[in-house]
Amino acid sequence: MPELDLPQRQATDTLMLTGFWYRALPADHVHRNQLQKATLLEIPLVIGRDRQGQPFALRDACPHRGMPLNSGQFDGENLECPYHGWQFDVHNGQCQLIPSLTHDQTLKVDRIYAGSYPCEEQDHFIWVFIPDPGPPGAGFNEPGEAPDPAPQIEKFSPKYKLAYLQAEMPVSIDHGIIGLMDPAHGPFVHQAWWWRTQRSIHEKKKNFEPIPSGFRMSAHTPSSNSAPYRLLRLYADADSITTTIDFVLPNIRTETIRAGKYWFSSLTTVTPITRSQCRIDVVAAWNIFRWFPFGPDLLKFVFAKFVEQDRRTMERQAEGLKRNPHLMLIDDADRPAKWYFQLKAAHQEAKRTGTALKHPMTGPVTLKWRS
Ligand code: FES
Ligand SMILES: [Fe+2]
Repeated sequence: MPELDLPQRQATDTLMLTGFWYRALPADHVHRNQLQKATLLEIPLVIGRDRQGQPFALRDACPHRGMPLNSGQFDGENLECPYHGWQFDVHNGQCQLIPSLTHDQTLKVDRIYAGSYPCEEQDHFIWVFIPDPGPPGAGFNEPGEAPDPAPQIEKFSPKYKLAYLQAEMPVSIDHGIIGLMDPAHGPFVHQAWWWRTQRSIHEKKKNFEPIPSGFRMSAHTPSSNSAPYRLLRLYADADSITTTIDFVLPNIRTETIRAGKYWFSSLTTVTPITRSQCRIDVVAAWNIFRWFPFGPDLLKFVFAKFVEQDRRTMERQAEGLKRNPHLMLIDDADRPAKWYFQLKAAHQEAKRTGTALKHPMTGPVTLKWRS
């Protein structure tokens, strides 16, 4: 594919990919015997935990007349619709009782299902699998199963700390994701005396390689002009510090920093809530900063600051996007964004034709930009 030095038009429609796990809610927001509302890909969900603490996710609409189930009675096992009292098993959505039926009526209650979604708790979050053509359980179908377990943060030692933070962004998942992988906004959006300034902008060269359904910024020694990495040097030789950043469909960015026996690992997702709204969830695990005073708080502070800067930027960007302006992607700073759109298209095409995903990258690529 010839690469011209011309900007490329960016498509405006936002596709939300089904057939993947998505983070629905922080695990500590969901309590035993209680219900919570959540929305994923414009699907209203009711999420809760049973008596044993097992999480579950149902479509927040009764299969009888569509009544939201989140205001129903929940006894830790079955959920009762507030309209006509039908009861559903929260784990598979199967109907257990229809109170209006008389003894001689033979309607097969157990053939009726409320929409139910595979649900897992992993690293501080409740994940929900959104299957392919909409809810499998709605009406008369038994719920489907997820092909793989929910994504996990990679950990390199048995002892570690874990923290999360989240921010809602009033933009589509596409803008959320390309904003996250965009290297060129750093000096302008993320300025702080303890991080870096516009004056520290310099040319960078990074190697990328294709990985299944995504791409990797190959292991490299981190940028010398950033404060957290300067901190890391307290623990290890500058040369032994490496960082790897992966992006994989539909929305997952993982970053791994290793410095000798110390490590820091994060899994960030951009979750489509609606077509024009997404949420960034960052979960980090680490075994560094253990002797550093206020280490975890400092880390959380740095992260929160970044995410808040991104959130405020996207809030203003949303204003500009309201009237559908033409947008463009340029080389090389927007190349990861191009790969993202190409991967999405390739994924759709592979699904349509039932063939393997044709990766847009044919091999390793070096990108250069100033940031
Ligand atoms: S709408 Fe739920 S039982 Fe009738
Ligand atoms: Fe950012």
